[in-house]
This record gives sequence, C-alpha cells and structure tokens, in this order.
Amino acid sequence: MATNDVKNTDRIRSEIFRSKIVTADDAAALIHDGAAVGFSGFVGAGYPKAVPEALAKRAHALHANEQDFSIKVYTGASTDHALDGILAEEEAISFRTPFSTDGALRKQINSGEVGYIDTHLSHLAQQVEEGFFDHLDFAVIEISGIDENGDLIPSTSLGNNKTYIEQADKVILEVNEWQPEQLDGVHDVYYSIGTPPNRQPIPLNTAHDRIGIGRLRVDPDKVVAVIETEGGDRNTKFTPLDECSKAIGDNVVEFFKQEEAAGRLPEGRLLPLQSGIGNVANAVLAGLERAGYQGLECYSEVIQDGMLDLIKSGTVELASATALSLSPDAVEEFRDNIDFYNKHILLRPQEISNNPELIRRIGVVAMNGMLEADIYGNVNSTHIMGTKMMNGIGGSGDFARNGYISIFLSPSTAKNGNISAIVPFASHIDHTEHDTMVVVTEFGFADLRGKTPRQRAEAMIAIAHPDYRDQLRDYFDRANAQPNAGQTPHILPEALSWHQRFLDTGSMKQD
Ligand code: COA
Repeated sequence: MATNDVKNTDRIRSEIFRSKIVTADDAAALIHDGAAVGFSGFVGAGYPKAVPEALAKRAHALHANEQDFSIKVYTGASTDHALDGILAEEEAISFRTPFSTDGALRKQINSGEVGYIDTHLSHLAQQVEEGFFDHLDFAVIEISGIDENGDLIPSTSLGNNKTYIEQADKVILEVNEWQPEQLDGVHDVYYSIGTPPNRQPIPLNTAHDRIGIGRLRVDPDKVVAVIETEGGDRNTKFTPLDECSKAIGDNVVEFFKQEEAAGRLPEGRLLPLQSGIGNVANAVLAGLERAGYQGLECYSEVIQDGMLDLIKSGTVELASATALSLSPDAVEEFRDNIDFYNKHILLRPQEISNNPELIRRIGVVAMNGMLEADIYGNVNSTHIMGTKMMNGIGGSGDFARNGYISIFLSPSTAKNGNISAIVPFASHIDHTEHDTMVVVTEFGFADLRGKTPRQRAEAMIAIAHPDYRDQLRDYFDRANAQPNAGQTPHILPEALSWHQRFLDTGSMKQD
C-alpha cells in the first residue's frame, strides 16, 4: 500500500534529499500533460507505488473537467496493475514501451488507443540515450534508500533506472521502506558502457563477476521530489506445477543430458542459464532440481520463485538478474533468510543482463516461452493469431539470438486443445528459424540444429500434440510434393488457414 504521509524515515540519510520530501500528490502535480516519463519497474518488481496512483487520481479529476491528461510511459519491463493498470483505466497513457503484461493496457494497445513499441529489452537504454525516442521529461524511480553521500540504494529491480535518471530533465524518487534494507549489496551498476565509436568491451567474463558499483547516481539538482512509501511489489503468483509443465521441465533435462553426453555442455554444471517469464519457465527450473543438478549459475533477467527454491537446495549457486520478482510466500521465505540469499544473487541493469556481447561471451543457455512455432522453427512470442499483442518480445530476442543454445518452450496446445502451438506457418515471427535451436513441448524436444528445413519439419511434427500431428503431416506432405517445392515447402494460400479456422470456428482442428 502506498502512502501520501510524510514520515521522514531514516532511509534518507542525506539532508539535501530530506529537504525535498513532498507528498505523492504534490509530485504528480509536477508532471504535465504529454510528458514522457521513465519509470522504474521490471517484471512486477521495484516499480514506483505512490506517484502512479496520484497521477491516476489527477487524470481522473482533469478528465472529469474535460481537460486532457496522458503521459508516455517507459519502463524496464512489466510493472503492475498499480502502475500500468490504473493509469490505463483512467486513459492516462498515450504511449508505452518496451513491455507490459497488464490486461487493461493490452486492450487499449490492441484497439490502437495506446501507441506501443515492442522493443528488445537490451536496446531501450541505448536507444533512449541516442534520441531514437522522445526526450524524457521525468524519471520516477523507486529506491530503497539514499546514503550519506546522496547516492541511491536501488530497490528490487534495476531495469533502465540508470539511464532514465541520467536522461530525464527531472527526477522523482520514491523511497520504499517496505523493501528490505539488506538488499543493499546485491546490486552491480555499470557506468562505463560508452557510446559508439568509443565503446569498449564490457569487462564481464562470468555470471558472478562484479564490474560496477552498488549505487545509482543522481545529480541532486535534478531531483524535484522525494516521496516516502511503504508498499509491496506485485508478488507474482504462480499456478502449481501440472503434469504438462512437469513434462516440459523433464524434456528440457533430457535435452541437457544429451548435450552433456555429447560434450557440448559441461557435465553436471551446464552453462549459465537464462529462464524466461511465466509458469512454464518456472516449471523448467523445478525440473532441474528434480534432476539433482548442483552449483549451477544463472545469467537471466528475473529471479522468480523457482530460482529461489533452486538457490535454497544448492541447485543454483549464483543467480544474476535484473529483478527479484517473488510470490507472497517466496517474499516471506526470502526475508526470513535474506542474509543467505544475498550471497547468491546479483542484480544488474537490463542493458547488462540482456547485453548481446555478454550473452555470447558467457555462453548462456536461453530458455523462453512462446505462443507458437511453425514446422520450420520460426517462433511467435508476441502476437495472438498474428495481430493481437500479448505482452511483447521482452528479453527473449536478446537471449535467443545470442545464446549458446536457444530453447523455446510451450505446452503443445492452448485454449483447451483448440489451438496447436505447432502450426504450418507462424502468424507473426519474432524469432526466425535461424535463432531457434530447440523447441520443447510436453511430448519431447525438437533439436533443430544442423537440420535442413525438411528435417526440421519432421522433428517439429513429432513434438506436436497427437490431435494435430496428422493435420501437420498432411500439410507438410502436400507442400513437399508440389513441383518446385523449394527450400522451405509451403502452400502459401493455405499456410495460415489454421489461424483463420480458429477465428471462424473456435478450433484449429479439422472436421
Ligand atoms: N494462441 C493463443 N493464445 C495462446 C497461445 C496461442 N498459440 N499460446 C498460449 N496462449 C495463451 C494461453 O492460453 C494463456 O492464456 P490465459 O492467460 O488466458 O490462460 C497465455 O497465452 C499464457 O500462456 P501459458 O501457456 O500460461 O504460457 P506462459 O505463462 O509461459 O507465457 C508467453 C507464454 C509467450 C505469453 C510468455 O512467455 C511471453 O510473454 N513471452 C514473451 C516475452 C519473453 O519471452 N520474455 C522472456 C524474457 S523477459
């Protein structure tokens, strides 16, 4: 719960900043209609809690008086209903980037009311710096404290905070007392990326290297308001593991065993793992624990519940990420054992955790969810039926393109079996056949490496749901049998007929 009361906590240990403490309403009043605002927040962690609420109230009052008020919202990644949702409900967002999972906002994005740019998470910081987007008027950043030197102790996510603080004309800070003080020490903020042509290699060679400082820096003259809050993060809930997600996790492990036996992954240690968002990703982590792995490293974006369990059991020795995004139960476990967990986690800005140079150097094994893949390995992660935005590409492209091995995961069907996740032609393509190395469903893994398109199609059909295998085989055989079938056989007028059939009849199944 956010608060508008001024409490003067000992979290603000610099007098300059104490003198700037105001209420959230006063801070929100500074933000003008049309402003571009860079908010903190990454996968429901570390987003500001009070200013968005005050902005939504302000928008409500202004709209009631028939006055315009909307802002452009930039973040690290998804936030929470308490930011995206309440602002969307007041029609106070005109533009959004780079990633959102909020249902209310999703509707406005898909109706065209809100402009949305779905961009790689690693790209946004540099693109804002380079002026590819509107100049930021404000940065609104949650932190967990301000030290004696006026440096900022970060919160549960780092996102694009460094860049937004640097780039914005004015900065508003929310100091959230709910965030545990012991988080101090888990952050590693790198300030020396530089700009081309003078950019130098980033000196990070392993997932556990520290290359930066534990603080965010801010020019105090730019700080126009400091607000004290006490509110929990979104605290993502996960659905309990079902048979399908367990089987996907086991199939990933089977693939890893194959790679270890072939000498392509270090035995028992693998390579640093990236695990995407959502239930399936969480289930895969559980599979690693069941398989008895110990001492693994993760170079990922989010530490979710599954990762915490793995740290506790010793399966994971070190998890490097951009956010700590836990369920209510996991938050309790984390807080009760915070000194233990702090030794095993590192939080970095997303331009570092998702950095292509580092992902390639470290040899990250990327594992991301998908909506659908086609029989040749093109993957759709973002657009339902090719047109409606789900969430966004997030970091999946950063990791899939640059990972040592790139794995996509999905149940073989969605919507009670009426949608097949394996289709003749992906209705939107986020990751091309060139980036997709392995696809995993509950029916097995399709290892697409070193396979021609025709061989890939065979492997993909084998992991489709049995209800759809004959249909897929029929399509592929007919496409392949055409004279001049080409390198990648298709019957183009028919290629997307599965999606059309679902839109027309509610099922991709043929009669
Ligand atoms: N067509 C239509 N809907 C589909 C679908 C398809 N082919 N596949 C899945 N869905 C629906 C599911 O029915 C479910 O809907 P519901 O919320 O109404 O129940 C929803 O999409 C989520 O599917 P689920 O199977 O629970 O998977 P998930 O939680 O693992 O999420 C993605 C899958 C693709 C949405 C998610 O991984 C994502 O947003 N990926 C892109 C970003 C990314 O990969 N980030 C990683 C690094 S940040």
